[in-house]
Amino acid sequence: MANCRLIYRSLCSDASMPNDELGELVRQSAENNRALGITGLLLLSGNDFLQVLEGPSDAVNTLFNRIIRDPRHHDVSLIAFEQIGPVYFDEWDMHLVDLFDLPKQPRELLAAKYSVKDGAVVIPERLHEVYSLLLDARTICRGRPWEDAETA
Ligand SMILES: Cc1cc2nc3c(=O)[nH]c(=O)nc-3n(C[C@H](O)[C@H](O)[C@H](O)COP(=O)(O)O)c2cc1C
Repeated sequence: MANCRLIYRSLCSDASMPNDELGELVRQSAENNRALGITGLLLLSGNDFLQVLEGPSDAVNTLFNRIIRDPRHHDVSLIAFEQIGPVYFDEWDMHLVDLFDLPKQPRELLAAKYSVKDGAVVIPERLHEVYSLLLDARTICRGRPWEDAETA
């Protein structure tokens, strides 16, 4: 079956969702996704979620229909849905990147590259910038080069 990539954004319903609730959401999501062959990333920036899901089209569509109805967020807005060959975000069943919680170095890097409002990176409007932010988040999660710099 063809693989697809789906990207959406939404607003967190709880302005200050406790870390343990977020952690549980991501843990449960990763477990479900693993069973479905779905991978991806979930970014949180201030109150905004940005999620990318990759995997078999039917499974991703079914999951997205469930996610839309989840009361933990609202104003879900589809950004992209495409059939894909190579996957870009296949390293995690689901992984949370809280842009607020990043160490100084990657936080400053993102702040220099994207707009910032109330201390949080604004999820870009343009599709290529959304991809750019997701790929930056992937790079940040993959290696933690600032840790080497800090201990050097
Ligand atoms: C921002 C956000 C992202 C989510 N991402 C996933 C996900 O990647 N995989 C998943 O199974 N559930 C995800 N969920 C949870 C689903 O909405 C849903 O609660 C879960 O799939 C269990 O569904 P069920 O109660 O119908 O079994 C997410 C929820 C939110 C609010």
